[in-house]
Amino acid sequence: MKTTKRIRKAVFPVAGLGTRVLPATKVIPKEMLTVVDRPVLQHCVEEAREAGIEHFIFVTGRNKGVIEDHFDLAYELEDTLAKRGKTKDLEALLADTPLAGATSFTRQQAPLGLGHAVWCARDIVGDEPFAVILPDMITLPGARASRCLAQCIAAHEAHGGNVIAVEEVPASETHMYGVVSMGQDFGHTFEINGMVEKPPQGTAPSTLIISGRYVLEPQIFDILEKVEKGAGGEIQLTDGMKALSRSQPFFGVRFDGKTYDTGSKVGFLAANVAFALARPDIAPDFRAALKRIVGTL
Ligand code: UTP
Repeated sequence: MKTTKRIRKAVFPVAGLGTRVLPATKVIPKEMLTVVDRPVLQHCVEEAREAGIEHFIFVTGRNKGVIEDHFDLAYELEDTLAKRGKTKDLEALLADTPLAGATSFTRQQAPLGLGHAVWCARDIVGDEPFAVILPDMITLPGARASRCLAQCIAAHEAHGGNVIAVEEVPASETHMYGVVSMGQDFGHTFEINGMVEKPPQGTAPSTLIISGRYVLEPQIFDILEKVEKGAGGEIQLTDGMKALSRSQPFFGVRFDGKTYDTGSKVGFLAANVAFALARPDIAPDFRAALKRIVGTL
C-alpha cells in the first residue's frame, strides 16, 4: 500500500503529568525542562523540521500554556535584544520560531493515555499520513547523519504504510515499553508482524522497543476512537496500531543514532551530558568539567 502523500504534519502529545520527574514538573511541563540550553520539546521540533515537517500540532493539557508562548514571538525580549545590539541572539531566537500559522494547539482535557492524546489531533491532521513524536524521547544522529524522524519518513517513502522507530534494549527492560516482533527483514527496516504494550517480564516477543517516532496513516483515528483502555488503564497507541496492522502494513526502522528518555531522572541527566558533548561550542569546557567530576568517582 505505497502512498506518495508527503508527511507534512507532526503531532506532539504533551499532555502527560510527568510524575516520574516530580517535583520539577509541579508547575513546569516536563517537555519544557531544558537539555543544555533549550527545552526538550524544542529539540523535537528541530528534529521534525529537519525531516521536512511544516505544521506542528501540540496536544496539551492544563498548566501547559507556557508551551504555546515558547513557540510564539516574544516582542519585549526581541526588542530589548535588538536595542542592545545582540543581533546573533535575536537571529537565533527568530530562526527557532515557527512561521505564523504553522502551529496548532488542542487540549486533551484528561490524561487518558497516549492513544487518546493522538486521537485528539484528528481534525487538525485530517485525511493524510502524519508523524507522531513523543517529546520526552530526544535523539542524536548516528552514522546516517539524519535524526530518527527523517529516517522514518524515508522508510515511509520507500515502503508506504505505517512506520515505527525501534531500538534494542536489554531483555530486563522490555516490560517498560511497547515491543514489536519482526517479520521480513530488509536490514535498516523490517516488517512488523506483532506488537504489545508493556509486556510482563519474560513475555516480550523481542528486545526491540517502540522508541517514540511514528508515521501513521489517518485510518488510525477511527480505530483509536473505539480502542478500549489497555496497559495502565490508559488508551494505548500500541493497541490502536495493533488493530490497524490487521488491515495495513507496519514497518520498523532501526534508528542508527541514539535516543534518550528524558521522562526519567537518570535519562534526563544522561541526555544533558550527551547533548552537551555533541555541541561544538560547549563540548570543550564541558568535557573538562565532566572529567573533574568523573575523576572523583
Ligand atoms: P509518558 O507516559 O512517558 O508521560 O507518555 P507521562 O504520563 O507524562 O509520564 P509519567 O509516567 O507520569 O512520568 C509519553 C508521552 O505521551 C504524552 C506525555 O506528555 C509524553 O510526552 N501523554 C501521555 C499525553 O499527552 N497524554 C496522556 O494521556 C499520556
